[in-house]
Amino acid sequence: MSRKVIIAGNWKMNKTASEGRKLVEELKPLVAGCTEAEVVVCPPFTTLGAVVEAAKGSNIKVGAQNIHWEQSGAFTGEISADMLKEAGVEYVIIGHSERRQYFGETDCSVNKRLKAALAAGLTPIVCVGELLADRENGNTGKVLFTQLEGGLAGISKEDMAKTVIAYEPVWAIGTGKTATPEMAEETHNYIRQQLRDMFGNEVAEKVRIQYGGSMKAENARELVAQQNIDGGLIGGAALKADSFASLIKNALSACK
Ligand code: 13P
Repeated sequence: MSRKVIIAGNWKMNKTASEGRKLVEELKPLVAGCTEAEVVVCPPFTTLGAVVEAAKGSNIKVGAQNIHWEQSGAFTGEISADMLKEAGVEYVIIGHSERRQYFGETDCSVNKRLKAALAAGLTPIVCVGELLADRENGNTGKVLFTQLEGGLAGISKEDMAKTVIAYEPVWAIGTGKTATPEMAEETHNYIRQQLRDMFGNEVAEKVRIQYGGSMKAENARELVAQQNIDGGLIGGAALKADSFASLIKNALSACK
């Protein structure tokens, strides 16, 4: 079963509207030929409008970095699915480790956000990953199991097949320390096995599992060449058009 490679840039809290527009304008010609991959950029909320506008007519899709589960109401600082949809957004990152670490995100809130995204027809990118201490104590499997069990609870098989999982070992994010392709593959394989146990083999084979954590042009090919690595969620290397485009091209050169 072949899964379409999905490379998403998570801009985090970087790029004003004008900076985001410029980056997408630069990126467009560089990735115009990369039609075998799904190319996504996820700017901050205030930059979404400018980026959707700039990406029109190109193969670049736009995602948000968070979503609230309610449709509207007294939730200061939050953004609903309808707001994202009307802004032209098609994807949304949910449960990034920075949201878990700094903003109290839990598997339960991840699950509620995921259900809201799916109900609105957005493609969710659900992030999971262990801390360094978890890895060192041999708890990686346990942590991932809990995150998947809680985060994906009550999701139908049909919805699960549309959901993207991003495996981001927290110790590899922004540190320059990438998991080796073998280590990442072992963990991706474990995640797919959990999906098999929860949703059956057919669904598990359809779900795309991205790797994230210091992925760059230099290591993208080797990572995406692994059987269970279907793309990447990119931070730092997505902030410049040339490094992001090179990463995408290298990832696509990994023949499977
Ligand atoms: P870096 O690529 O900067 O390590 O960030 C990864 C990440 O957190 C993407 O969501």
